[in-house]
Amino acid sequence: MRYLQTLLTAIVAILVPARTQPSSEELALLYAALEVGPAEHLTPTIERRVPLSTDDDTVTPLIDLQVYAPPVVPQGGSKCTVDLLKHDFGDGSYNNPAIAAYTPPTDKACGQPGDWAAVTLNLTVNGTQYDRLSSLYLSHVEVWRHSSAEPTKTGTMWTSVKDVTHYSALFAKSGDLLMDFSNIISADYALDGVFHVTLTGTFYAPTAVFPKPAVADLVLPISKLSPNQTNFFAIDNGAGGTVAVTVPRHAQQAFLEVYASGNSAEEFWYLNTPDEFLSYFPPSTGLIGKGPFREVQALVDGKLAGVVWPHAVIYTGGITPTNWRPLTAYGTYDQPTYFIDLTPFLPVLADGAEHNITLRVRGQGEDPTINSDWFVSGSLHLWLGKTEVSGTMATYIAPTDALAATSGRASADNATVRLSVVANRSIVIESVLHGDQGKHVVRFEQRLSYSNEQKYVSDGWVQWGVQLTEGTTQSTHGGSVVLRDAFSYPLSVFSNYTLYEMQFGAYGSAINQTYSRVLQTPAFARGSRSILSIQHTKGTVGLDDWPGLRHAINGTGATDQKFAFHSSTGATYYRSIAAKNDAWTRDSVWGSLRDEAPPVPKEQIKPGGGPGFRRELGTSV
Ligand SMILES: *[C@@H]1O[C@H](CO)[C@@H](O)[C@H](O)[C@H]1NC(C)=O
Ligand SMILES: *[C@@H]1O[C@H](CO)[C@@H](O)[C@H](O)[C@H]1NC(C)=O
Ligand SMILES: *[C@@H]1O[C@H](CO)[C@@H](O)[C@H](O)[C@H]1NC(C)=O
Ligand SMILES: *[C@@H]1O[C@H](CO)[C@@H](O)[C@H](O)[C@H]1NC(C)=O
Ligand SMILES: *[C@@H]1O[C@H](CO)[C@@H](O)[C@H](O)[C@H]1NC(C)=O
Ligand SMILES: *[C@@H]1O[C@H](CO)[C@@H](O)[C@H](O)[C@H]1NC(C)=O
Ligand SMILES: *[C@@H]1O[C@H](CO)[C@@H](O)[C@H](O)[C@H]1NC(C)=O
Ligand SMILES: *[C@@H]1O[C@H](CO)[C@@H](O)[C@H](O)[C@H]1NC(C)=O
Ligand SMILES: *[C@@H]1O[C@H](CO)[C@@H](O)[C@H](O)[C@H]1NC(C)=O
Repeated sequence: MRYLQTLLTAIVAILVPARTQPSSEELALLYAALEVGPAEHLTPTIERRVPLSTDDDTVTPLIDLQVYAPPVVPQGGSKCTVDLLKHDFGDGSYNNPAIAAYTPPTDKACGQPGDWAAVTLNLTVNGTQYDRLSSLYLSHVEVWRHSSAEPTKTGTMWTSVKDVTHYSALFAKSGDLLMDFSNIISADYALDGVFHVTLTGTFYAPTAVFPKPAVADLVLPISKLSPNQTNFFAIDNGAGGTVAVTVPRHAQQAFLEVYASGNSAEEFWYLNTPDEFLSYFPPSTGLIGKGPFREVQALVDGKLAGVVWPHAVIYTGGITPTNWRPLTAYGTYDQPTYFIDLTPFLPVLADGAEHNITLRVRGQGEDPTINSDWFVSGSLHLWLGKTEVSGTMATYIAPTDALAATSGRASADNATVRLSVVANRSIVIESVLHGDQGKHVVRFEQRLSYSNEQKYVSDGWVQWGVQLTEGTTQSTHGGSVVLRDAFSYPLSVFSNYTLYEMQFGAYGSAINQTYSRVLQTPAFARGSRSILSIQHTKGTVGLDDWPGLRHAINGTGATDQKFAFHSSTGATYYRSIAAKNDAWTRDSVWGSLRDEAPPVPKEQIKPGGGPGFRRELGTSV
């Protein structure tokens, strides 16, 4: 979506006097509509983004990179690597996922299926195409959500490695691997890039110092369960997505893992304008309503069980694409996930009957409370024991919605508009359970706070958005902390589109974003992981003539990142990296995991940066 969508809507703008912000589902419809000619129902607004497809002479192929914490795996034990999926996502791949039969590896070096010390996946993509979203499922459970790189004409490649040990119960059984990477190829619009995907899995046998961790015994999908389509729920209304689950009666612990990302008109949810202030700006600026506050909710039989206030993952085409090539924002190639303890609900959930688990998203509009749309899925991680669990919920403090308040003021002439949204939340759910541990208290608690300050000048063509999402989610079982997610996600975006409507217009942005999180979850079963990622970026994009299908003709982009990872087992990874105008200007990596994701080769470091982004005027798309 995103760039591709932009491109298509731009094309539609030439053909018909109308445009809208389509969802990915609508995109397919748009595409079909292009075949049959003009339609009246599309309404035009200025699309703020254009594809970045320059013909710079960059390193060939360009190695794109998201900094990540390499998985902590046993050293010196036996392991095996197997091919899991190889697929070219090209023509016809839209809404047509790749499906590969999965069977647990039987080679002796891999260790006994299900008894692995660690399991990691390596996703490597070679392809030139605008940014697209992809999701990977095993037996309908989403195990990886990832987005693509901004393209270069000389070829683009990227690799990411992910620890999937907590899905061991799934990998121990045969099933289907399903990967959606909906791509559109059209020679007419020069959408010609195929994604060549290689997915491998590495299975590590346990060693004396690195035994099998106590991961979940059973992992159930909270997804659409489709055999041949993407499995996340695409949510654009208050109902969200619901799935019925049957939890074994002898389950002792239940944790929900959630994947959630905004898409289409919700891609930049954190910059959306509260509805009550949209009328201060001309529709031509294309500002999107329903405010910037978003909450992903999990419900058990319609009763709120916990919430997620997500980190904003900025894709490679996001805000100003020149910012994110070749260094992406944190989370682009492996989006963070979130955990909610459903153990207090076990007396109900584990009664042997079917129960509904719902994932939905609350925003700040009227019903529906969000725009289109959010992609949300989850999985229920269950630890089984000997005793049938019983008990009672003793405390339930979980209001349906967070307390959010919006305020704003405009200068006398409306030249400057300042808006503020604050929200906070406190949830406490406590049950007394009888299970393998005897009688014990299970307490789940969330304390979250949110603020978003926006300032607009020049009729909304210049916008500042400063958001801070912070909080702690914690649960204790029998007094011991089993889940702790303490996070702080500051985000500051300045964007300037004042020249956007001009012939040979331009736009630019400066973004600061931090992801700071200490996460201990029984799913990972090996202590806590702390990550700090601090990024600063600045970039501009120059455009060719308007109206018509606009191209990026030149631009600048500089991104700086400092990254630190600590595992409570002692592993560390640090990286200080920067890129400017398509070239690496700095990269140093240190810490015990240095060799797992080493720095960019020295010969690729160009201290002055690259030449900047350029495209010959008058060349076709
Ligand atoms: C990931 O796989 C690719 C090829 O599929 C390989 O070139 C690369 O070295 C692997 N990376 C790691 C860290 O294993
Ligand atoms: C990347 O894909 C292109 C196009 O199919 C191919 O020519 C090239 O060899 C691939 N590069 C690598 C390193 O796999
Ligand atoms: C996808 O699966 C559904 C449900 O099983 C089935 O009805 C449909 O025909 C399938 N579509 C394709 C293209 O295989
Ligand atoms: C400012 O915008 C608001 C909302 O559209 C409008 O009610 C008000 O009259 C405007 N003030 C001026 C001075 O234009
Ligand atoms: C689950 O949802 C379905 C459909 O809304 C409803 O009929 C059923 O009663 C629900 N089950 C429970 C246990 O709430
Ligand atoms: C929580 O939000 C409400 C509504 O904005 C506000 O009245 C209250 O003071 C806030 N509480 C805290 C602790 O921030
Ligand atoms: C980003 O941080 C730098 C350094 O603290 C600061 O100078 C700049 O104004 C910030 N930019 C934004 C958009 O917040
Ligand atoms: C926005 O960009 C325009 C054109 O480059 C420039 O004149 C203006 O000063 C910029 N506004 C801000 C607030 O930086
Ligand atoms: C981009 O091209 C335009 C039109 O030729 C020119 O005015 C502008 O200075 C260029 N910008 C950069 C950053 O090269």
